[in-house]
Amino acid sequence: MDWGMQNRMNRIFKPQDGRTVMLAVDHGYFLGPISRMEEPGKTIEPLIPYADSLMITRGVLRNCVETKYDIPIVLRVSGGNSIIGKDLSNEGITVSMQDALRLNVCAVALSIYVGTDHEHQTLINLANFINEAENYGIPVLAVTAVGRELEKRDAKYLSLSCRIAAELGAHMVKTYYCEDFEKVVKSCPVPIVIAGGPKLKSEFDVLEMAYNAVSCGAKGVDMGRNIWQSHWPVPMISAIRHIVHEKFTAKKAFNLFQYLKHKRK
Ligand code: 5RP
Repeated sequence: MDWGMQNRMNRIFKPQDGRTVMLAVDHGYFLGPISRMEEPGKTIEPLIPYADSLMITRGVLRNCVETKYDIPIVLRVSGGNSIIGKDLSNEGITVSMQDALRLNVCAVALSIYVGTDHEHQTLINLANFINEAENYGIPVLAVTAVGRELEKRDAKYLSLSCRIAAELGAHMVKTYYCEDFEKVVKSCPVPIVIAGGPKLKSEFDVLEMAYNAVSCGAKGVDMGRNIWQSHWPVPMISAIRHIVHEKFTAKKAFNLFQYLKHKRK
C-alpha cells in the first residue's frame, strides 16, 4: 500500500491494535431528520472526543461540524434515495472526488446492494469510485446495505457481499453482525467493521453485539443509532470504546456504562 493510503488507514484503524470506533452520523442522506439527529451538530459534537473517525455526509460536515476538530472524516459519497421512495437500492454517486479532497477526507464510503435490481449499478459505482480514489491514495469503505430487507443479515448473504466488495478493491467493508460471523470475517481479505442497525432493546444487547463482533475478528464498529439514540450517548460510546480498544467484555463494558451514566445524573 502506498504511504498516503496506509497513513490514512492508520488514522482510522489505530496502529496499536488495528481497530477503530467509527461514529456513523450519515443517516439523514435517506432518512432525513430522524430522532436525535434533528440538529446534527448538537448530537455529534459531544461524541467527537470518543470517536476515532466520523462517517458523515458533506452537507452535515460543512454546516454542522466545526473545522477545528482533528478527527478523520469518512465521507459518504453515495445516495439519491429516500425512505419513502420506491427502492432504497437505487443509489448513485453524489459527491465528486474533487469535493471529497477539498473536504480533506481520510476515506470515502458508498453502499452496495447485492442481490437487488440495482446490484450492477451499485457495484460499478464502487469499482469506479475505487479507480478514482486510488489515484489520490484515498481508502474506500464499502457498505453492504440491505435496504428494508433486514432478514438478509445472515452469514451467507453478508459473506457474498463483503467478498465481492473486497474483490472489487474496497479497502475496508462495513457489514452487519450475524450468527457465524467468523465465516464472514474469514472470507473477507480486508478489515470489517460492523454497523449497529436499528436501535436494539437494551444497551447491554448493543455491547454484547460489539463484543461478539470483535471476538470474531471485526476490526471495530461503525455505529450510529445505538449510540446517539441512547439516552446516554457518551457513556454508550465510552463503553463501546473499551470493548474495541481495551479488551473489555460486554459485562465489564456494561458496568462501565452504568457507572458513567450515574455519574452524569
Ligand atoms: C446507512 C449507513 C449507516 O451509517 C449505518 O447503518 C450505521 O449506522 P447504524 O449503526 O445506525 O446502523 O451506512 O446505510
